[in-house]
Amino acid sequence: MSDSASHNPLRTGLEEAQVAQPCTLVIFGGGGDLSRRKLLPAIYNQVIDGALPANFAVLGVAREELDDASYREFAREGIERFSRQSLDPRHWPDFERVLHFEQGAFDDADTYARLKKRLEEIEPAFGIPGNRVFYLAIPPALIETCVQHLNAAGLVQPVGVDVPFSRIIVEKPIGRDLQSARQVNNILGSNFDESQIFRIDHYLGKETVQNILAMRFGNSIFEPLWNAKHIDHVQITVAEEEGVGTRAGYYDRAGALRDMVQNHILQLLTLIAMEPPWAMKADVIRDHRQDVLNCMRPITPDTIDSSVVRAQYGPGFHHGEDVPGYRRESGVAQDSTTETYVALKVYVDNWRWAGVPFYIRTGKRMPKRVSEIAVYFKSVPPILFNADADHPLEPNVLALNIQPNEGLSLRIATKLPGPKVRIYPVKMDFRYGSTFGDQSPEAYERLLLDVMAGDATLFMRRDTVEASWMFIEDILESWGSSHTRWLPEYSAGTWGPLEADRLIESKRRKWRLL
Ligand SMILES: NC(=O)c1ccc[n+]([C@@H]2O[C@H](COP(=O)([O-])OP(=O)(O)OC[C@H]3O[C@@H](n4cnc5c(N)ncnc54)[C@H](OP(=O)(O)O)[C@@H]3O)[C@@H](O)[C@H]2O)c1
Repeated sequence: MSDSASHNPLRTGLEEAQVAQPCTLVIFGGGGDLSRRKLLPAIYNQVIDGALPANFAVLGVAREELDDASYREFAREGIERFSRQSLDPRHWPDFERVLHFEQGAFDDADTYARLKKRLEEIEPAFGIPGNRVFYLAIPPALIETCVQHLNAAGLVQPVGVDVPFSRIIVEKPIGRDLQSARQVNNILGSNFDESQIFRIDHYLGKETVQNILAMRFGNSIFEPLWNAKHIDHVQITVAEEEGVGTRAGYYDRAGALRDMVQNHILQLLTLIAMEPPWAMKADVIRDHRQDVLNCMRPITPDTIDSSVVRAQYGPGFHHGEDVPGYRRESGVAQDSTTETYVALKVYVDNWRWAGVPFYIRTGKRMPKRVSEIAVYFKSVPPILFNADADHPLEPNVLALNIQPNEGLSLRIATKLPGPKVRIYPVKMDFRYGSTFGDQSPEAYERLLLDVMAGDATLFMRRDTVEASWMFIEDILESWGSSHTRWLPEYSAGTWGPLEADRLIESKRRKWRLL
């Protein structure tokens, strides 16, 4: 198997020990889209990279009519299409023998009895000491059924010293509002200990997102400037090129605020705004992220109009082709008032961030797919090079590119060569791809490994999920009481409605051109 780390000296660095323990990964929904596109390819890459223990097996469970042989074919097809590293026929026979499948319905107690029997066969055959990770890659409505059946079938081991571990991974979304999120958390909490529950938000597994902590706390130059005295504002953009596609059934009930802001974007914000943690320990980091959520200023009916803009894409162009507006998409109600775009101005009311606005925007059918956090520093005083009020200097901007061109850049002012004194903004650029060569591991690779190692740093704790919903719920309630029948429109293929420009256009601020 390849050892990419040894080929690139830049890849050696300070290492945090990360040891995945022998276990069986039981994937509920093992025959679904997430498994085919993400989970099975992630496992394949980990095996190829030698990151998984030798004592490891996978057991897919779902209704599809599959057996071990046809599940291996299903996995092969997914890996051939979606894996970061191409399928290597030399390693395939070794890899495929770890894959197993058990057919069954999740609401049938028999399924769990057969599952138990299969596990009791697989574990001794692979030298696995009874450790189990249950991955719920299933529709959210089935979480309760699965969790209760797992426990009733005696498949959940209580936490203890020298006993095999049982861990559960739950996919987003956790609920669709505070009340339903609490319900899911109550069900999980009454069958598993919080330390056994891993609520996944794959955004947190991206290299660039993890690099936020390394950049902030591994360098001495940023932290002294990281506060309201030196930072003017922060912009977070998560733009998608795609329209609603085949996800209308889910999306039309969710919208951009629930789909993107409640989880991914608020998590990014907490990483940017958190205080320095005193240890790289899961609960220390999660406590500090939680503190940020706790001091976010609530958006009330009085402030909603000056803080939030929502809109829907209308007809427009995508890659030179006409595309329909949101209400004309298949599966979307013709009178839908679901937002496909939202922009927010939010504040973190603590000493560090007092008065610094965080501008957030996210939408579908934007001109390109890009996720970026841009930290705008305050302008230099209006003296010397910045004395001409009609031609102010561009401020310094630190941009963290999360996708697709992972990296970071710093905009600084320099003198243009020549006899005149003319100042020009240039960019210092770092790109993961060009510096480190290899493709970065997919988020799911890192996150699966973390679960097997018992490291919950990059997973959402119960209080985090609920605090995010609490913040979002104020906005949802204001929207609910406004009985809107029509949202502002932006043409597909543009950066959103004019109303969003007005949200930011004060004190010479404007949305970053991406
Ligand atoms: N797909 C992604 O890229 C993605 C990304 C992020 C999060 N997620 C989340 O991951 C979860 C799974 O998504 P998905 O896209 O993989 O869904 P999916 O393609 O619909 O797969 C669901 C799987 O569960 C099985 N299943 C459903 N009901 C069942 C039942 N009652 N008994 C037994 N098996 C049953 C399905 O089998 P049948 O085909 O027989 O129904 C299928 O194998 C969802 O919560 C989603 O929000 C998905």
